[in-house]
Amino acid sequence: MTVSFNRENKPFDVLISEDKIRARIAELGAQITKDYADTGHDLVVLCVLKGSFIFTADLVRAIHLPLRCEFIGIRSYGDETKSSGEVQITADLTHPIQDKHVIVVEDIIDTGLTAHFLLELLSSRHPASVKLCSLLHKPDRAEKHVNIDYLGFTVPNKFVVGYGLDVAQQYRNLPFIGYQES
Ligand code: IMP
Ligand code: MG
Repeated sequence: MTVSFNRENKPFDVLISEDKIRARIAELGAQITKDYADTGHDLVVLCVLKGSFIFTADLVRAIHLPLRCEFIGIRSYGDETKSSGEVQITADLTHPIQDKHVIVVEDIIDTGLTAHFLLELLSSRHPASVKLCSLLHKPDRAEKHVNIDYLGFTVPNKFVVGYGLDVAQQYRNLPFIGYQES
């Protein structure tokens, strides 16, 4: 039996390998560790579900500081491959972020609409600071400018999957970032 990650018999092209992801996360973790070394116990890493669950799991282990993990579930309205900027909170944080230093962890900044909405929402809750960390950035599609404080990789204008990113909820478990030629 041939075992494969994909449902159809169509291979994925690897855009970013497991090794490259691992190496970049080590660098991001080291940078964040340095930048937040003086914030005491007030660091909150906020995983934006579902797309960033794998990235967050690896990133927090590369941050050598005391921190808390929080999760926020959001759903962006729009068609399957394009968000509309209308964002619904499907699961909210379990603890207040007032006076905390928050790092929002996203899978990808595409149009920027989702991250823009989220950053505004979090700012209204009076954190000490909010920064954005995203594994991927697809600058070709930007509609709203958002400042990415910590960025893994810039990607071309292709629909990418794997390492947490999905298409119709599939392929989040690919260990690499890939795409399928259409
Ligand atoms: P934005 O609001 O357009 O920036 O979209 C952000 C969300 O759209 C991400 O958190 C992803 O869930 C999804 N998304 C955008 N581009 C891709 C992609 O290439 N692959 C998988 N999901 C994507
Ligand atoms: Mg998604």
